[in-house]
Amino acid sequence: MELIDFVPRQTLRRELGWQDVLLVPTGDLQLGGIGFWKTGYIEYLKDCVKTANGAPILLVTTGDMVDRNSPSNRRKIANAELYDSVRAGQITIGEQDIEEVIDLFQTYIPEADIIGFISGHHYMDFGDGTNTDSRLADHFGASYLGDCAVVHLNFKQDDHTSKTVKIWLHHGQGTASPIKKLEKIAAEWDGIDLFLMGHTPHIETKVKGRMYTTTQGNLHHRTVKLAGTGGWLRGYTLNSSDVEGNLPKGNYVEEAMMAPCPLGGIKIWLRPWKNQHGAGVKIEVVL
Ligand SMILES: [Fe+2]
Repeated sequence: MELIDFVPRQTLRRELGWQDVLLVPTGDLQLGGIGFWKTGYIEYLKDCVKTANGAPILLVTTGDMVDRNSPSNRRKIANAELYDSVRAGQITIGEQDIEEVIDLFQTYIPEADIIGFISGHHYMDFGDGTNTDSRLADHFGASYLGDCAVVHLNFKQDDHTSKTVKIWLHHGQGTASPIKKLEKIAAEWDGIDLFLMGHTPHIETKVKGRMYTTTQGNLHHRTVKLAGTGGWLRGYTLNSSDVEGNLPKGNYVEEAMMAPCPLGGIKIWLRPWKNQHGAGVKIEVVL
């Protein structure tokens, strides 16, 4: 569990003033796996830049950025006592995967101020206390957020008006709707405005109401938003083959006869507002 207050890096000269910000929560590329829909992902990144239309973009990942390796493969590799050159070859592949993710972000969404990297099921452990997500975080000067994080985004108009949006993040678990998972989690947390998870590629969102009373005897409500951040691994690809390229073979989705899911990602507008009744930050999830 990590908790960070996001402070925009000085080099980007972007402060979260009282202006609209586009949040891009992205993950589940499984880059390097059979079925990563690269062209679709590039279009998504371009669309985020177009949608922002000059507004600041904050990007945070929700895990499974690369396919290598699955949890069971990591366990097997750790116990395999591999020959040094074999291990070195694996590390090279992991580093190439990282370079590819860096290239995607730098080429197609260079405007993004990257907040942090959550780890999911799929990542490479380099055996030196780093993994693919922590190295990506290091590269971008972002935070490595481990398995679960709460990110505070502080919007400040002046010394009298400031609002904090609290975002709960996890890669996710299971095969069911992300909303069902997040509803259970949201029931356990107070004060969070937005719950996000990836893992299952379902693109869904839901608005939940929260009633509360004040010590002055007033009754209020506020909204909490839940969303699945989508995914980019095609379950079924035409002419997919085994590693050697000899025989037709699908990835684990096809092999396990899992239901195909529509692929895609989400983006979220965070819009600060202020009027005679108060101030806040409106959260709009765009599917
Ligand atoms: Fe996953």
